[in-house]
Amino acid sequence: MAVLLQADDVSMSFGGVHALAGVSFELHRGETLGLIGPNGAGKTTMFNCITGVLPGYRGHIYYDGRDLRNLKPHQRARLKIARTFQNLELFDELSALDNLLLPLDAFSRRGVLGDLLRLPRTVFEERRAQEKARAILHFINLDDWADTPVGDLPVGLQRRLEIGRALCLEPQLLLLDEPGSGLDARETSELARLLASVRARFKITMLLVDHDMALIMRICNRIYVLDYGRMIAEGPPEQIRDDPRVVRAYLGDATATGVVSTEPATSGAVG
Ligand SMILES: Nc1ncnc2c1ncn2[C@@H]1O[C@H](COP(=O)(O)OP(=O)(O)OP(=O)(O)O)[C@@H](O)[C@H]1O
Ligand SMILES: [Mg+2]
Repeated sequence: MAVLLQADDVSMSFGGVHALAGVSFELHRGETLGLIGPNGAGKTTMFNCITGVLPGYRGHIYYDGRDLRNLKPHQRARLKIARTFQNLELFDELSALDNLLLPLDAFSRRGVLGDLLRLPRTVFEERRAQEKARAILHFINLDDWADTPVGDLPVGLQRRLEIGRALCLEPQLLLLDEPGSGLDARETSELARLLASVRARFKITMLLVDHDMALIMRICNRIYVLDYGRMIAEGPPEQIRDDPRVVRAYLGDATATGVVSTEPATSGAVG
C-alpha cells in the first residue's frame, strides 16, 4: 500500500524533556491509524511536528514523498493536512456556521480588492463558501444549530464541529487529537459513526489519537503505541490489546486505570 505519511527518526525535546525520542512510523493511504499512549507520551507533540507548529524537530517527516521540514503550517494545510485540537479551538462567540466559513474564507483565492469592489467572482465565491459550509454542517448533522453560538453547544457537538471545520480544507490527511475526550457513551458511538462515514465518503486517511480504547479498537486498522516519547509497539488492534508492553505502559500510568480492561474490538474497522 502507498505510504502517505512517514515519520523517520523524529525527535523533539523541551528543555530536558524528550517528548519524542527517535519516533518512526508509516501511515498508508486510506488507512485509519491509531496513535495511543499514556499521558505525556508525546502524541500531541507528534501532531505539532506534522502540522508545522513545532518546526524544531530532528529527523524527517515525509508527506506524499516530500520532506515537510521547510514548510510553514499554512503551507502544510495547503497540502491538505488538517487537524482537530485536544483542547477545542473553536470561536465560542461565533455561530456554528461562521466557524465553518472562517477556514473557507482563509483559503479562498479572492483578494481584498475583490472583497471591497464586490467583484462578481467574489460574490460567486461567497455563495459557494456558504453552500459548502451548509453541506458540511449537514454532513456532521448540525443543521439545527447553524446559528447557535458555539459556546452554547454541548461538547459532543463542538467536537463534531471541529471535525467539520477540518473537512472544510478537503483534507487528504486528517489528524484527530482526542476527538472522544469529554464525550459520553452515546456521543462516542455517534463519533465512531461519523468517522466511519468521513472515511467512506471522502476517502480521507486518518491518524487518530484517543484514550478511549473502545473507540480506537472500533475504528483503527492498525495501532502504534508511544510511551515516554518512544514507539513501543505496533500492530492490529487485537494484537496491541494483548501486548504486555502496552499493558505495562498503561498500568504505570495511574490516570489511565482501566484502559486495559476495555472490551475487545469488534471485527476490525467499521464502515
Ligand atoms: N510546549 C511545550 N513546552 C514544554 N514541554 C512540553 C510542551 N509540549 C509538550 N511538552 C511535554 O512533552 C511531553 C509530551 O507531551 P504531549 O502533550 O505530546 O503528550 P500527549 O501524549 O499528547 O499527552 P496527553 O495524552 O496527556 O495529551 C510531556 O512531558 C509534556 O509536558
Ligand atoms: Mg495530547
